[in-house]
Amino acid sequence: MKTPMIPPWVLLASSMLIPGMAQGRHDTILGCSDVGCPPDMGRDGAPSVSDNCTVGPESHSYVGVARIPSLQAEGLKQGHLTWVQGSRVHSVTVDAKTNTHGQVYNHTFYLGAAPDLKLDDWGACAVFFNGPYNASLLNFTKTSLPEENEGTCADAMGGDNGCVEALQDRAMSLMRFGSNSSSSQGTCQTLLEDLQQREIPACNSWTEHKWGNLTAVALTGNNAPKPITGDRNASSNCWPVESKQDSLTPIFHREIHETNIYSYWAITPILTLFWPVTNGTTDNRRSNAALTCVKPIGPPNASLATMKGGGGDEGAASTVWSSSIPSIVAGTAAAFVLFNLL
Ligand SMILES: *[C@@H]1O[C@H](CO)[C@@H](O)[C@H](O)[C@H]1NC(C)=O
Ligand SMILES: *[C@@H]1O[C@H](CO)[C@@H](O)[C@H](O)[C@H]1NC(C)=O
Ligand SMILES: *[C@@H]1O[C@H](CO)[C@@H](O)[C@H](O)[C@H]1NC(C)=O
Ligand SMILES: *[C@@H]1O[C@H](CO)[C@@H](O)[C@H](O)[C@H]1NC(C)=O
Ligand SMILES: *[C@@H]1O[C@H](CO)[C@@H](O)[C@H](O)[C@H]1NC(C)=O
Ligand SMILES: *[C@@H]1O[C@H](CO)[C@@H](O)[C@H](O)[C@H]1NC(C)=O
Ligand SMILES: *[C@@H]1O[C@H](CO)[C@@H](O)[C@H](O)[C@H]1NC(C)=O
Ligand SMILES: *[C@@H]1O[C@H](CO)[C@@H](O)[C@H](O)[C@H]1NC(C)=O
Ligand SMILES: *[C@@H]1O[C@H](CO)[C@@H](O)[C@H](O)[C@H]1NC(C)=O
Repeated sequence: MKTPMIPPWVLLASSMLIPGMAQGRHDTILGCSDVGCPPDMGRDGAPSVSDNCTVGPESHSYVGVARIPSLQAEGLKQGHLTWVQGSRVHSVTVDAKTNTHGQVYNHTFYLGAAPDLKLDDWGACAVFFNGPYNASLLNFTKTSLPEENEGTCADAMGGDNGCVEALQDRAMSLMRFGSNSSSSQGTCQTLLEDLQQREIPACNSWTEHKWGNLTAVALTGNNAPKPITGDRNASSNCWPVESKQDSLTPIFHREIHETNIYSYWAITPILTLFWPVTNGTTDNRRSNAALTCVKPIGPPNASLATMKGGGGDEGAASTVWSSSIPSIVAGTAAAFVLFNLL
């Protein structure tokens, strides 16, 4: 068993913790107990052991918050960026005639950005590797609780097989040699097509020769999603980022009709590509690509209070955690991918 290396950005992240803030439980992907989600108030108004993190119109019972690991590119050194996932299980009517119910896993991905980060002179694109991947191929294996598992992309993808670097290099070499587009959307589309056309052998251990559904979203340009502000934030009672001054922009939304509980906790790799744009001209040589892995993370913040109240022993904790795991559903697997431009 290989000891996971602590990437430098983790050290950076902990040194940037607001003084006085409790040390989070997680190192690589933060959850509700790290970012302070409020409890779900049941119908009777009494807090439950679940969380309800409402961001704009959407309420999430779990979140996952992962920093984009490297921003080496010139001019992007200041300020941090994070990928945030918010997830909830919804009960839906599958067949009204027979009154059959099923479950939908609803996942929303946000980009969190520090207030001092200026992307005005940059083009940017994100590619989402939408599983659900076979959990025995892409997983973190630290604990037996799927909601608690966390790590870096390299941990999940098999450590030193070079998949992370190969993916990042592929995106950067596309910028150097392949992209002729002046718009973020055009470059994003080129990146998507390039990835779809060829597999990356170093990644085959978890992709099994197929990427599955990929979704590319341009993060800059006129049609790019906009941060949540003003009225759109009025319904929020939660801001699932470590640094509360950060902006949050809903980027992508995924609904999964699944049979497999592991797909709720599945890891989503996100490839983020940045390139400088000077006076409308893309500088292809100075692009920067980073792969981030995000997933919903437990335990719920609300369950920690219960644990403390009940003596906080591990046995009690496990009971609380497993009760919050969505149950396994029968049905046909289907993923509906749609853009959420809010
Ligand atoms: C998170 O849970 C703690 C108790 O464990 C509670 O004091 C805190 O208020 C919760 N956070 C929010 C935002 O409700
Ligand atoms: C979560 O909070 C929102 C409003 O903040 C509320 O509409 C919703 O019923 C709550 N619970 C669930 C399970 O969504
Ligand atoms: C999933 O979330 C989206 C966005 O909030 C919402 O429109 C949709 O109805 C949700 N799906 C289910 C099954 O509730
Ligand atoms: C997942 O991958 C393992 C190893 O390749 C394989 O044995 C198993 O059948 C796969 N499961 C599914 C659901 O595809
Ligand atoms: C996680 O993946 C590894 C292969 O990378 C596999 O050996 C292991 O069984 C998987 N664990 C689970 C819980 O699926
Ligand atoms: C970019 O332009 C060159 C030269 O015109 C061409 O060979 C190449 O295929 C183009 N690349 C893309 C991705 O369109
Ligand atoms: C995306 O996923 C759906 C459902 O699993 C599948 O029908 C569709 O072919 C996939 N699209 C691509 C491009 O793989
Ligand atoms: C949005 O609302 C949340 C919860 O009240 C708050 O923490 C956050 O700072 C607000 N963000 C913006 C951009 O207004
Ligand atoms: C960008 O354009 C302005 C005015 O057109 C010019 O002054 C400036 O030197 C240009 N900058 C670069 C880096 O080309």
